[in-house]
Amino acid sequence: MTDVASQGPAASEQDRAVLTNRQGHPVYDNQNQRTVGARGPATLENYQFLEKISHFDRERIPERVVHARGATAFGTFVADGTVGDEPVARHTRARLFQTAGQETEVAVRFSTVAGGRDSSEAARDPRGFAVKFYTEDGNWDLVGNNLGVFFLRDAIKFPDFIHSQKPDPVSFDRQVANRVFDFASQTPESIHMFCLVFSPRGLPASYRTQQGFGVNTYKWVNEAGETQLVKYHWLPQQGVKSWTAADAAVVQGRELGVHTKDLYEAIDAGDFPSWELHVQLMSDDEHPELDFDPLDDTKVWPENDFPLRKVGTMTLNRTPQNFFTESEQIAFGTGVLVDGLDFSDDKMLVGRTFSYSDTQRYRVGPNYLQLPVNAPRTRFATNQRDGQMAYGVDLGEGQNPHVNYEPSILGGLREAQYPTHDDQGPEITGRLTRKRIPRTDDYTQAGQRYVCSEQWERDDLVANFVDALSQCDRPIQERMVWHLFMAEDELGQRVGDGLGISADDVRGLEQLQTQTLTEAELERAANLG
Ligand code: HEM
Repeated sequence: MTDVASQGPAASEQDRAVLTNRQGHPVYDNQNQRTVGARGPATLENYQFLEKISHFDRERIPERVVHARGATAFGTFVADGTVGDEPVARHTRARLFQTAGQETEVAVRFSTVAGGRDSSEAARDPRGFAVKFYTEDGNWDLVGNNLGVFFLRDAIKFPDFIHSQKPDPVSFDRQVANRVFDFASQTPESIHMFCLVFSPRGLPASYRTQQGFGVNTYKWVNEAGETQLVKYHWLPQQGVKSWTAADAAVVQGRELGVHTKDLYEAIDAGDFPSWELHVQLMSDDEHPELDFDPLDDTKVWPENDFPLRKVGTMTLNRTPQNFFTESEQIAFGTGVLVDGLDFSDDKMLVGRTFSYSDTQRYRVGPNYLQLPVNAPRTRFATNQRDGQMAYGVDLGEGQNPHVNYEPSILGGLREAQYPTHDDQGPEITGRLTRKRIPRTDDYTQAGQRYVCSEQWERDDLVANFVDALSQCDRPIQERMVWHLFMAEDELGQRVGDGLGISADDVRGLEQLQTQTLTEAELERAANLG
């Protein structure tokens, strides 16, 4: 993204392109609107002025309801043709992975979550890591984050969660700690993610030095129709680097868009960031031997049991030619998969899949998929017609343009044939119900993460929790300290010390929990500290 100053000397007056309006009419005077006499009044047939000003009036589209602040860059994914040391075809028939050296164009948008479009990029927040692969079979979007897990395991809670992260609806006060921890302290599944967000990893030093994860569990399908569960990991070749709160405060005082600037400056200087894509695979069943559910996005899969296996490398080498058309209007979604990749029954994934395209029809418009940045690089042919801002007609090659329906014997489009049969994966039976998944285990992985961190990371986590929780009401502090004790005694003790709350102060708070505790959790609650 080069700025005006670096464009070189302007062309001579004669060579410069002539300004027109969108009707192609030359603009002879762009300084003065048409008026009756030099001092006005203006007239309503003032087409040039009215077009210009009314387009300007509509320049802003709604910002994303979440992840509003972000930056997109473009590049290439190169496949290994293998997954670890096995041929990838054994596990998935997705064509983009099959051949060593095979290249697929990508677009990546990095983002923060809670702030508005012009908010600080140095805020403590998860970072979005959304990748669009323009594959030969159409687009695949992998819409993830930099932390590997999420706050919730059921999509029905997402609007409440996001409201708790946003400014007060009455005063628009941005000091949101009390709201955030009011919600968190009654949502134990979020404790693991909060322990990550308040660790140094909640403040990546740049978009280039952060990991990425698909987070939700997906499936891979091979030629025989066999399915496996899969999780995706992006490992930055630049290494992982984080800031402390003090580092971030200094940067934020100077520049709000620090990560976008860093990313674009590096790419423009030819220092192209790259990430290896690895996967973890698991057989497609419920895995009763695990103490967590493989479809629970608040959990990671232990890498000792489910090792990372490399499938390719992505390099970013181009910045947008125009930020609005290529970054504001880009639209990712978890429903955007290609043959060989599939959904799992992860309850978050299903909810997300509806939410993305729904919001994009509102945010960008019903024809958002016709925009160049969102359209597949392959030919697309649909019978969808009209709607606001229809950008073209999705006619297939040789399609009779009069036939915008299917089936037809008059030269319309035909259905594609499945590469193999459509039935795949385990058979599922069950009653309609509203229930939590049985294996919740909200604390073990949060505690393990604390124990396995380096000393400076633990100190940082404790300091960040104390700082944020000290802005909260006492009952909220107590509930949070109780959860942190449940995760790890030392963590609960140290955060409690910082707030003047002891294990004795919070003992018994399990009675206030909004969800049924497991036997192991009840035992743990009885022995806090
Ligand atoms: C953006 C919904 C969970 C990652 C968005 C947007 C919505 C949304 C409505 C705005 C999209 C747009 O305007 O284009 C949801 C819902 C969730 C959920 C309902 C849970 C049920 C997650 C999770 C992750 C995630 C678990 C990470 C794994 C992202 C990213 C973006 C995004 C990266 C920004 C995409 C971009 O750069 O344009 N989400 N989300 N979301 N979400 Fe989620």
